[in-house]
Amino acid sequence: PFPLYARLRADSPLLHEPREDLWILFDYDSVKWALQDHDAFSSVVTTETGTTPDWLLFSDPPRHTKLRGIIMRAFTPRSIANLEPHVRELSRELLDVTVERGELDLVADYSSQLPAMVIAKMIGIPVEDRARFLRWGDIIMKLSYTIAGGDESKRAMVENAAARDEMRTYLAGILDERRRAPRDDLLTRLVEAEVDGERLDAKELLGFFQLLLAAGTETTTNLINNALLCFMESPDQLARLKAEPGLLPLAIEEVLRFRSPAQSMFRSTKRAVELHGRVIPEGKFVLPMIGSANRDPKQFREPERFDIGRDPNPHLAFGHGIHFCLGAALSRMEARVALTDLLERLRDFRLASDEPWQPRQALHVHGPTRLPLRFEPGV
Ligand code: HEM
Repeated sequence: PFPLYARLRADSPLLHEPREDLWILFDYDSVKWALQDHDAFSSVVTTETGTTPDWLLFSDPPRHTKLRGIIMRAFTPRSIANLEPHVRELSRELLDVTVERGELDLVADYSSQLPAMVIAKMIGIPVEDRARFLRWGDIIMKLSYTIAGGDESKRAMVENAAARDEMRTYLAGILDERRRAPRDDLLTRLVEAEVDGERLDAKELLGFFQLLLAAGTETTTNLINNALLCFMESPDQLARLKAEPGLLPLAIEEVLRFRSPAQSMFRSTKRAVELHGRVIPEGKFVLPMIGSANRDPKQFREPERFDIGRDPNPHLAFGHGIHFCLGAALSRMEARVALTDLLERLRDFRLASDEPWQPRQALHVHGPTRLPLRFEPGV
């Protein structure tokens, strides 16, 4: 999509798509504004398939503030640091079973599994239920493609209804257990939480569960995938990182900018909004294109260059303002652990086939569906 973004950003940074009545923003300043100004842009949006779910991500203040408060404590630097040894262990285990083959599909064998297992751990899902949890994550993700106008819509809706029933029953059981025997996990925090003096009801609890699955899995999966894509496209930058491993955190920021896992977000106008000399009427569906903002030459010097030393790097990959990604520190940590292991153990990795990699069929997710790699096994 990147050459197209560049053309549109230069020609019409505010594009009205008449068929779906969508207003699309391509330049850095407008995207940042739409993401952060919750008086002008609401996160409650209505799409063809209905209003967005009642999740934190899709809520406005004052409700947003209360919902965010409930799970914020699960994402403190201390909680993230406490999870790190577990992430290392998971990463090592996943690679131990595949690396010897000298070939793997990074998506199926590694990058789609690690983040889901980390969230399962964070939420407090027992190990024996993790496989089910992974499958639900997959289905929820397809549903969010639907919200974003993906092509798997109908099937995903049906699958989603079945999965939602299954999840609801499962969740009711496990939440009951926590009510009886509280633990130090997110499930316990959710059953004990109160908003305006009231406990969350079953629907709200399910919403949190789904949100964490949707927001925390595929995004981090693609951060890991996209990092390897960037390095295969820019071997000089890989060599630079090997020579200067201390650059890893900056390199991760540059992957986030250059191949943003979430290419766009959604908003709706709460009032008429003036932008680039035009007026977006009230109640319109707006798409701030994060992936385009992150390559805006007005903000980034040589934006089309992948430069792991880029500093400062004020990309918008995690959003901006009150909805700024709660999982940012978690996924940065996961990416750090994952890339350290992958670069060490998949020596000289390259694509295993000559075919170009297939992008996800979704408007707002950026990354490959499969990433078959060949490499020399490292210990
Ligand atoms: C919000 C991207 C990983 C949980 C957001 C937003 C973006 C984003 C752009 C802002 C949405 C908006 O303004 O409407 C990403 C990317 C990730 C990532 C690129 C990985 C590379 C995670 C993880 C978790 C998570 C690992 C949780 C385990 C959330 C939540 C919100 C959010 C709960 C909603 C916050 C709110 O509405 O206040 N994310 N995310 N994300 N993210 Fe992430």
